[in-house]
Amino acid sequence: MSKQATSTTTGLQFPDLLIYRGYAAPVRIEADVYDLEVVGHIPPELNGAYYRCSADPQYPPLLGKDIFINGDGMTHMIRLENGHADLKTRYVRTEKFKAERAARRALFGSYRNSFTDDPSAAGIDNNTANTTAFWHHNQLYALKESSRPMRLDPLTLETIGSWNFHGTLKSKTFTAHPKIDPVTGEAIAFAYNTPGYSSKDIDIYVISPDGLITSSETFEAPYSSMAHDFMVSRNYIAFTIYPMVNDWERVKNGEPYFHWDSSLPTMVAIIPRKEGVKAIRWYTCPFTGMETHSFNAWEEERDGNKLLHLDHFFTASGWISQFPDIRGECTQELPPHAERWTFDMASTSESFGVKRIFNQIGEMPMVDPRYLMQRTRHFYFGTSNVDFGPMLDMGPKGPPFTCIAHFDEVQQKMSFYYAGPDSAPEEPYFVPRSKDAPEGDGWLLTLVGRRSENRTDLVILDATCIEKGPVAIIKMPCRLHEGFHGTWVPAAQLGF
Ligand SMILES: [Fe+2]
Repeated sequence: MSKQATSTTTGLQFPDLLIYRGYAAPVRIEADVYDLEVVGHIPPELNGAYYRCSADPQYPPLLGKDIFINGDGMTHMIRLENGHADLKTRYVRTEKFKAERAARRALFGSYRNSFTDDPSAAGIDNNTANTTAFWHHNQLYALKESSRPMRLDPLTLETIGSWNFHGTLKSKTFTAHPKIDPVTGEAIAFAYNTPGYSSKDIDIYVISPDGLITSSETFEAPYSSMAHDFMVSRNYIAFTIYPMVNDWERVKNGEPYFHWDSSLPTMVAIIPRKEGVKAIRWYTCPFTGMETHSFNAWEEERDGNKLLHLDHFFTASGWISQFPDIRGECTQELPPHAERWTFDMASTSESFGVKRIFNQIGEMPMVDPRYLMQRTRHFYFGTSNVDFGPMLDMGPKGPPFTCIAHFDEVQQKMSFYYAGPDSAPEEPYFVPRSKDAPEGDGWLLTLVGRRSENRTDLVILDATCIEKGPVAIIKMPCRLHEGFHGTWVPAAQLGF
């Protein structure tokens, strides 16, 4: 036996904590699997690639614990062609990933907090690139709101590098939720904590269909806080500003990057797209809470009023599973409800209307992306429904879904796809049946965790009748780490 093999040095081990255990455990496998097993038939129109990002820690945490959203970016790609499916998974080669791979251990401490990093990580970009797979101007990006986009090769998933849109991106950060305008082809995006650390400044960007930032404006929020998502209608941009506060003094003391402070108001900023930030209007909510994700924003003229509707999931609590409540009042997350906030842009009123779009709690909202910025009839999201099966054990990012839901607002009808015992679907992504198919005529793609089998499936549902069950189940021979947001890119755009 070699001298090295008899060493008493402790081997690499992840701590025995919820985020490193069982179905949540790091996967860390970079795989190529060709011709996955398929139950049913993949519709031939689904010719392209589904990409999505996950947070899959490469190494045990430097500080002995961590939060789910701080894992290293692993991108999953499932290529569909003529009824066949191939899988590719690759880590994003961020500067953080490369430095830690070279050191064979974690060098970065808590989420976005350089004061907790190993001294050898000083000056190295902490981007994890783990949140959203984003396709625009024929480029694929892995987005993380703390950093600039990471550009990936869409065919190989090889990392090309950090991207600043040919030098036109001012901020060190960039949202994981840009919105593509289906009429102009532009991407509307934003950045908060723009220097890469605490700041009240929020930048708004317009990215042309050929990938240049053609408009860049800055406004100041009432306090420095998380701004995860936003909403864009044909004529307005809207932000919900909520007190998931970033306090730099606390960060410097090694405390979490954010904390929930319900003593501060939740506010809404509405910015006309034409006039820009000089015409910004602020509204103070009569209640405190946090927008989790948005469905859409749209406008209508009714009874002489110019109404702007913001459709989003909203919860009265902060994101307590990731960041603490500084006042100690909120010990568990409250479920998000789908709310429609309505503003009359023709009036000078400082109030707005609030109503529930439907009563089912949920998250990971989706509409037909061709209908963003105008009224949508169909709403898709992840949820649980004990009429079909029991709730699953709490995961490290909250309760796992057991169902995908579809709400048809015209019919006022809620439909469910139940994924089966011990199965957890993730974000549903809508793909239209054809370019000019009516709204909602297409498929939903969702990764489903088969928790007892330690595997993942890609489930394809007919979006017009999800309650009938999958048209195809694509079976992975391994688990794909639970993740966040995906996208679909048709083969014609990939050059296959
Ligand atoms: Fe998100």
